[in-house]
Amino acid sequence: MYVAILVAAAVAVATAAVAAVLASRQAIRTREQASRAGEAQRLAFLGTLATGLAHEIRNPLSTININLQLLKEAWQTPITEREQREYRKIEMLLKETRRLEEILNNFLEFSRTHQPNRSPCNINLLLDDVSDLFAPQAERQHIRIVRNFDRRIPPISADRNQISQAITNIVLNAIQAMPGGGTISVRTSLKQQTAHIEIADTGAGIPPEAADRIFNVYFSTKTEGTGLGLSITKRIIEEHGGTISMKSAPGEGTTFLIDFPATTV
Ligand SMILES: Nc1ncnc2c1ncn2[C@@H]1O[C@H](COP(=O)(O)OP(=O)(O)O)[C@@H](O)[C@H]1O
Ligand SMILES: [Mg+2]
Repeated sequence: MYVAILVAAAVAVATAAVAAVLASRQAIRTREQASRAGEAQRLAFLGTLATGLAHEIRNPLSTININLQLLKEAWQTPITEREQREYRKIEMLLKETRRLEEILNNFLEFSRTHQPNRSPCNINLLLDDVSDLFAPQAERQHIRIVRNFDRRIPPISADRNQISQAITNIVLNAIQAMPGGGTISVRTSLKQQTAHIEIADTGAGIPPEAADRIFNVYFSTKTEGTGLGLSITKRIIEEHGGTISMKSAPGEGTTFLIDFPATTV
C-alpha cells in the first residue's frame, strides 16, 4: 500500500517536474518567437524608412545630374588649362552622381515588394533588345556580342521590365569582367519544354571560393560595386518560377544559365 502511494507520489512529482520543464521550455520558445517577431518588425520598419529615404534622395539627385549635364555642355570646348581642369571636375561629378543613381535604383529594385506584372513575353526579342542597348558600350570596349537564338522557345509569362533588368545585370557584369575586350555570347535553346538561356563571357572568371557567394546581397569584388545586381537577378528569375546557375573557369570566362519552365500563355 505504502509502496503504491510512494510510486504514485513519485510519478506525480516526476510528471509535475516534466510539465514544469516543458512549460519553461515553451516559455523560452515563446520569448524567442516574440523577440524574433520584434526583430522582424524592426527590420521591416527600417526597410520602409530606407526605401522612403531612397525615393526622397532620387529627385534632388536627378536635378543635380541634369544641371551638371547642362554645365558640361556649357563648358564643351575648354581652352585654357584651368578650363580643362574645371571640365574634368564636372565629368567626375557627373560620373559620381550616376553611380549614386545606380546605387539608389538597385536598392529600390531590391526592396521592391510588388509581384511581377505578367504578360506573354518573347525571350528572344527581349535578349535582342538588351544586346542592342549594350552594343555601343560593348563596341567601345572591343567586346563582340554574338547572338544565337532558338526560334522554337515558347513565350513565357513574365514581367518584361523585370526580366530585362535581370538580364541587364548579367550583361553589365560580363562587360565589366572584360576591360581588355572579348566576346559575350547570348544564346537560347529549347530543353525539355524549358526555355533555356545562356549568357557567356570570355572575361576574368570567378574563383571557386567566390562562386557560392556571387548571388548574395552586397557581395562584390569591385571597388565601385554595390553587390546587388546578381541578388536582384536571382530573385526576379525565381519569382518567375525560373532557376539560375553559373559555371566559370577562372581566366577563361563565365557562363550564366537560366531556365524558364514552358508556360501556355
Ligand atoms: N561575368 C562575371 N565575371 C566575373 N565575375 C563576375 C561576373 N558576374 C559576377 N561576378 C562576380 O560577382 C560579384 C557580384 O556581382 P553583382 O551582384 O552584380 O555585384 P557588383 O557587380 O556590384 O559587384 C561581382 O563583384 C564579381 O565578383
Ligand atoms: Mg553587377
